[in-house]
Amino acid sequence: MALTNLQVRDLETVLHPYTNQATIRDTGTLVLERAKGIHVYDVDGKPYIEGMAGLWCTSLGYGNEELADAAYAQMKKLSFTHLFGGKSHDPAIELAERLKEKAPVPISKVFFVCSGSEANDSQIKMIWYMNNAMGRPQKKKIVSRIKGYHGVTIASASLTGLPANHTDFDLPISGILHTSCPHHYRFGLEGESEEDFATRCAQDLEDLILREGPDTVAAFIAEPVMGAGGVIVPPKGYFEKMMAVCQRYDVFMIADEVICAFGRLGEWFGSSALGYKPNSISIAKALTSAYMPVGAILIPEEMYQATIVESKKVGTFGHGFTYSGHPVGAAVALKTLEIYDREKIIEKAAAKSPQFQAHLKALGDHPLVGEARGLGMMGALEMVADKRSKKAFEPKAGIGAKAVAIAQEEGVILRNLGDALALCPPLIISPEEIDDLFDRVARTLDRVLDHVTAEGLLTA
Ligand SMILES: Cc1ncc(COP(=O)(O)O)c(C=O)c1O
Repeated sequence: MALTNLQVRDLETVLHPYTNQATIRDTGTLVLERAKGIHVYDVDGKPYIEGMAGLWCTSLGYGNEELADAAYAQMKKLSFTHLFGGKSHDPAIELAERLKEKAPVPISKVFFVCSGSEANDSQIKMIWYMNNAMGRPQKKKIVSRIKGYHGVTIASASLTGLPANHTDFDLPISGILHTSCPHHYRFGLEGESEEDFATRCAQDLEDLILREGPDTVAAFIAEPVMGAGGVIVPPKGYFEKMMAVCQRYDVFMIADEVICAFGRLGEWFGSSALGYKPNSISIAKALTSAYMPVGAILIPEEMYQATIVESKKVGTFGHGFTYSGHPVGAAVALKTLEIYDREKIIEKAAAKSPQFQAHLKALGDHPLVGEARGLGMMGALEMVADKRSKKAFEPKAGIGAKAVAIAQEEGVILRNLGDALALCPPLIISPEEIDDLFDRVARTLDRVLDHVTAEGLLTA
């Protein structure tokens, strides 16, 4: 199909993030114009269910007047002041107070950033800073996981355990280590129970720490449920066992809750949903339901104390962004938290999760789906060439991208993580809309099955 004028102008001017720059020149982009509730509309007025809440972030959906009003009111009152060198403002103070109240573990201070990548970058810097202040300058290595996703800045992309984020970007940087991925379907051994697999993952972490030297390993960072790595729910008992290893070697545990916080897994924090207690937490995305780019790290007392020690030594705490705690972002975040509380968004998300997960698991019977996995209001359908042997399609067949294109025709926006189709709708989705979403996903899978059958790509 010929590209429209807007699509051509787009391709001539915009370098699209996370996009195959070669194929997009033929397919063009989907240009969206407006949105309401769980639907986004393209420039021709066609509606789509936003099945991925944007990028796992628009929990309250679109067109929320209260959030728009909160931003407008703050812009008129105090559009900007920073938090550097002794300045502050009401919205940042109040937001920090609210986040401390909500945090699932004891938190001393909140450090504001503008994105998930900045949050995790700041976590690494804070860990290094803290261990210098504590007189253990050799304890600096950070362990993340194969397939973990923590962002794209130089340090956070190094934490990320996905090849496309490293290859030819000359990453990861030194001092970042990757331990095993807790995906039982792909990495569990024949006959190995989830529990035994979790034990093996914890053993891998322990072996890595011992190999590197416990005195050199500072922290372990993990998402409660891996998002961009494929929506991977850890096996039963996983975090309990990983935590025990971290505690044994005095390794700080960072929960990257950039996706999981604020109800995605049915509780305020994903770490609570999975029953573990990290030392510090990264948040972003649903903190403002993506109405403004705001993130934060929630840090414990010992990390805060380090900033005092270092300030006395260096003369200042030399870290912070112009827009750390931006008043408009903070006002929108405060309003978002108010709506989560008042509308019982988290409780309602928990109540809708069984319906969402039942639909998802039912699609596990589809001939194309090797594994249907998920927790709370997120999930993935991994498409395979052979259900029995779990054989994947050849990456160059581009089945995931094909499925996303078909889903778009069916009026639903999904994201493919390899050949896994991810689902993560706005938390405000109604039970009827959940049914509608999965009807469209089922039709998409049927059409992809027709395609792979016609192309002879199934090996079963
Ligand atoms: C768990 C996790 N951490 C960090 C990030 C990076 O966030 P950002 O894209 O805002 O830098 C993401 C983004 O999807 C994420 O899912």
